Amino acid sequence: MLELININKSYTIGGSTFFRKQTMKVADDICLTLEQGMCLGLVGESGSGKSTLGKMILGLEQPDGGEIWFEGKNLLTLNKKERLRMRRHIQTVFQDCYSSLNPRWPVYESIREPLANFEKLSASEEKRTIQELLVAVGLKPEDMTQFPHQFSGGQLQRISIARAIALRPRLVVLDEAVSSLDVLIQHQILQLLMELKQQFKLSYLFISHDIMAVRSISDPLAVMSNGRIVETLSVKEPLSSMKHPASRQLVASILPSHPRDRHASKLVSSSAG
Ligand SMILES: Nc1ncnc2c1ncn2[C@@H]1O[C@H](COP(=O)(O)OP(=O)(O)O)[C@@H](O)[C@H]1O
Ligand SMILES: [Mg+2]
Repeated sequence: MLELININKSYTIGGSTFFRKQTMKVADDICLTLEQGMCLGLVGESGSGKSTLGKMILGLEQPDGGEIWFEGKNLLTLNKKERLRMRRHIQTVFQDCYSSLNPRWPVYESIREPLANFEKLSASEEKRTIQELLVAVGLKPEDMTQFPHQFSGGQLQRISIARAIALRPRLVVLDEAVSSLDVLIQHQILQLLMELKQQFKLSYLFISHDIMAVRSISDPLAVMSNGRIVETLSVKEPLSSMKHPASRQLVASILPSHPRDRHASKLVSSSAG
């Protein structure tokens, strides 16, 4: 469904009187494949280039070189009109709900926006669609008249998800979508994402710095470090089998359930598999 071929991207920083101009490579010959109906996990330490890669797939950043194939089309060679049409099929959920939900809008307006941009629905069809979406993400139809400040973090993320799936996209890029939530709510949202994936026939690119969150939903999992994919792992292989130092560092950073179980690798081989 999605194939990235030799994606390269650099940022130039500095160049002022005080800071020397520097080029920083955030994507270094990245090749990745996401099969239809799967969830590809992308994990790596902060600053490794994960979000930039997500943005390039969403068309929010332009790679310096490479190809991004989505359902048989190279996204980088589409003209503006084709690209716009393609956008409805690739949606996103970010960590920060406020970047997708306008705090001054009732929930109704936030979910309605993509529908209004791409679909010509009557007012009553729109209302019914919005209510169905809210129910699909575990909220109540009457929640649509409430404002973002009236919801908890987990509920806001449910609304962001409803907005992202409103147009029945085929691919959803989830960038740190559960990272700001507490562990219990994280678990509920991950569960919801798995259910929605089945129900709406979605494919996911699940990006996070949290290897346990990525592991719990993704297959396969790709580890990113300094703009490179350094290792990929299928769900059948244990985390402890990873060899690259960057992967091992991520595994070692998993907190034990009790301080006395300090050796994370032991934890991983025994419980996370
Ligand atoms: N627009 C930008 N201009 C310059 N540098 C950027 C820009 N966006 C991101 N970066 C830098 O690129 C690197 C990778 O960022 P990012 O893709 O956000 O990483 P991650 O999501 O893995 O934390 C970081 O060092 C970040 O500071
Ligand atoms: Mg990021």
